[in-house]
Formats: sequence, structure tokens, C-alpha cells
Amino acid sequence: MAMETVTTRADDADVAVVRQAARLRGELTLPGDKSISHRALMMAALAAGESRIEGAGDGADVRSTAAICAALGAQVERFVDDETGNAAYRVVSSGVAWLRPPDEPLDCGNSGTSLRLFAGILAGLPFRAVLDGDDSLRRRPVARIIEPLRSMGAVLHARSNDSLPPVTVIGRTSLGAVDVSTPVPSAQVKSAILLAGLRAEGRTTVREAVATRDHTERMLRARGVAVRTEAWAGGVAVSLEGGSTVQARSERVAGDVSAAAFWLVAGAIHPDAELTLRGVGVNPTRRAVIDILRAMGANIEERPVRSEGSESEPPGTAGAAPSDAGEPVADLVVRSSELRAVDLGPAEVAAAIDEIPVLCLAAARATGTTRIRGAGELRHKESDRIRGTASGLGALGVRIEVNGEDLTVHGGADLTGAPTDSLDDHRLAMTFAVAGLLARGETSVRRPGSAAISYPGFFTQLERMGA
Ligand code: S3P
Repeated sequence: MAMETVTTRADDADVAVVRQAARLRGELTLPGDKSISHRALMMAALAAGESRIEGAGDGADVRSTAAICAALGAQVERFVDDETGNAAYRVVSSGVAWLRPPDEPLDCGNSGTSLRLFAGILAGLPFRAVLDGDDSLRRRPVARIIEPLRSMGAVLHARSNDSLPPVTVIGRTSLGAVDVSTPVPSAQVKSAILLAGLRAEGRTTVREAVATRDHTERMLRARGVAVRTEAWAGGVAVSLEGGSTVQARSERVAGDVSAAAFWLVAGAIHPDAELTLRGVGVNPTRRAVIDILRAMGANIEERPVRSEGSESEPPGTAGAAPSDAGEPVADLVVRSSELRAVDLGPAEVAAAIDEIPVLCLAAARATGTTRIRGAGELRHKESDRIRGTASGLGALGVRIEVNGEDLTVHGGADLTGAPTDSLDDHRLAMTFAVAGLLARGETSVRRPGSAAISYPGFFTQLERMGA
């Protein structure tokens, strides 16, 4: 059957138009995981020697991190693979002790991960640096990192009573170790404290009531740092010894499960779909979106992939193959499914924090009413994602109610094409575009170029999918 999908050159157009697709078939390679790509670059700058990174995401956020590594004195070369759209990096550094003060403010662009993790790194370096970014980043909370890093002995200031970027960090080489509980479940906060802890005297411990993604822990271990993770109060306590050295290491980055999520939902809710997603990272602390969709009835097949040069399998990853960095990887196949509603509480929201908008779309096409509780952190992402999701999906005919931090999504929505606004937020742009594959008529997405923050090839692939 003939079909139509996206028109307009999405990446540089102000509006992308998506039309209903009759069938969704194909095989996709995903951008390299954004969280892992950031950390691989940062750790390469901290380590003495050469690190090669294959399959890194080439979204704007990861490029911000690469530029900051270079501004701090690491030698960074980037090669883009035209076929996958991913990047390979060669980073040569003299090691953390040789990083130098930047000449200008460090531009994190749209990237909260760059800003918060570099704040932790800079806290242990003996100079002054300023971390800044775009208008969206300047609205995102930073007190959550300023307080713990100050308690370790670094000096930090930020705009608006130390609550918003830009953040000035005056670091010191010998920080004091801390034992802290994070105020909100946040891998960025945990990682910032652990990265500062590498330069502290004694053992630094971060306690999380709800465990968040553990890439920093896995990747530090893979680079010779002893990181301990223990069960604590329903969550985890993660600790490391100050003075640990990060060793240079080459690594292949797994495909981004948060990017895969758009296709998993598209395939599950479309009546005639079969999509194969190659090489997706299925780390137990990131795979919640797969498990939630399966609990909703999604037909998702998972085939573990064994990577060349894999390390031994870390605990808790049985059934999936680890990538070079000790990250399990699988091919996923999603087929058209009959979905039913689900109830998500704060722990599931934390585990699927980046996928909640697209899960709301899945819920809109399920039978029954989905309740999502404790999603307040979504208001502090690249946009207020509670407001953005409710208004974009609402425009397409979804009944979605917001009550403080909670969302109720009524299933069985008959999606009808309409104008939507990404609010310049990549995850909203892609959620509304996927909805457009199902909606009757035309769906337009304002400011679709934001998809390039994490997934530069998204609209091209969307167009190809329907061809
Ligand atoms: C990230 C952690 C999450 C997530 C973000 C990436 C990371 O943020 O939303 O996209 O790489 O550590 P928070 O830690 O603020 O929840």
C-alpha cells in the first residue's frame, strides 16, 4: 500500500509535517547512547593517554561535551560515520592533573548532563571556570549540585541566589569526602558527586532512595576505579575512594535505548508494524521503558548481542550481552500490539524519566486509564515536559489530565492530526512526530530541529521508514 510520512527538511525547517503511515517496516541503527557518550569523553579527558570511542552519539549535547574536553586541554578528534550518523572520537590527554583553565565560559548548550557532570569534575581542579548554556539550560536547577560540591570544599556560585546557570566553579585539588543522600533521584547529581569524589580525601558515598542509571559507576570500574554499590533503604549507596586514577580505555557505545523508545512505541501502537532496532543498550537501570511497554502488552522481542572484545558480564545483566564497556546490548524487534493501561509510581518514573512523554502516547492508544504518579522532575527537563506533553498530545485528541506531579492519560484516543509545539525540546519533538504516524490527516511539529540534540538522524529515518 502506498504511504506518506514526513515532508519538509525537518532539521532546518521551523515546522515538520508528518502524515499517517500505512505500514511501518524496517531496520534501524540508533544514535550512540547519549549518557554513555558524555561520560566516555569526560573520562577520556581525565585519563592519561589515548582513548578511542566508537559509535558515540553525534547529537548537539555530546558535541558540547567534546568541545568542553578540548577547552580544558584534551586533544579531541571527531570522525563522523556517514552511514550510521554516529561519531568516533580519538581523545589524547595528559590526565586530570594537567587539565587547564579554559579561556572562556564553557558552553554546555542545551545539555544538563554536561553542566552537572563537569561541575563535579571542575570542583576538584585548582582553577576558576564558568559553565553556561542556552536559554533552556539557564532555566534548569543547579542547587542540587552546588550544595553537595560546596560541602566537599569547592566554591560555587550561580545566578538567582545560586539556583540557576551560569555556574562558576572555583575548584581545589584536595576536596573533603562526603556521605550524602541525593534530594531527588538524579544520575547527574550522583555522577557529579562521584566525579568530585575521585579528587577527595577519603571515601565518598552517594545514597539514592531510588536507584538511577549507573553508567558512571560501570564506566569508572571499567577504567580501574573501585566503585562499590550496596543496597540502601530501598535504593542504593554508591561509594568510591578518593585519589583513584581513571585509566584510558577504548570503548564502543551501545545504541541509545531512550532513542529506541520512539520506535518501540511507534511499532507497538501502529496497526501494521514490524521494526528491528539494532544494538540497543539494555542496561538494567535504563531498560524500564522496554519492561513498562511489555507490561502494557507490547510485543517486543529481545535478542542479546555478543560484542567483540566484551568484558565479563557485570552482575544483574543476565540474558543480555555486554558491550565493550560492560553495558549489555540487544537487538529489539517490535510488532503491532494491543496495549492496556498501566500504573507508574515514582520509582518507575525515575527509571524511565526520559521516556515518559512517549509512554504517554502509548498510554493514549491503550485500553483503560494510565496513571503516572510523582513525575515532578519532568518539569525541570529541557522544557516543562508535563505541560508540553499534555498540550501536544491534547491537541492531537488525547484526554490527558495533570494534577500537580501526577498525570492521568485516558486510553482509546482517536488521534487526529493538528499543530503541536516541541517547545524546542528534542523528546517532545520526536513524541509528537511518532503520534503523527498514527494520527488522521496532518500533524505538524513546531521547532523539530530540537531532535538533533540527541538524535540528528531522526526525521530522515522517519521519512525512510514510510518509503
Ligand atoms: C542523565 C540523567 C537524567 C536524564 C538525562 C541524562 C544522565 O537526568 O534525564 O537525559 O546522563 O545522567 P537527571 O539525572 O537530572 O534525572
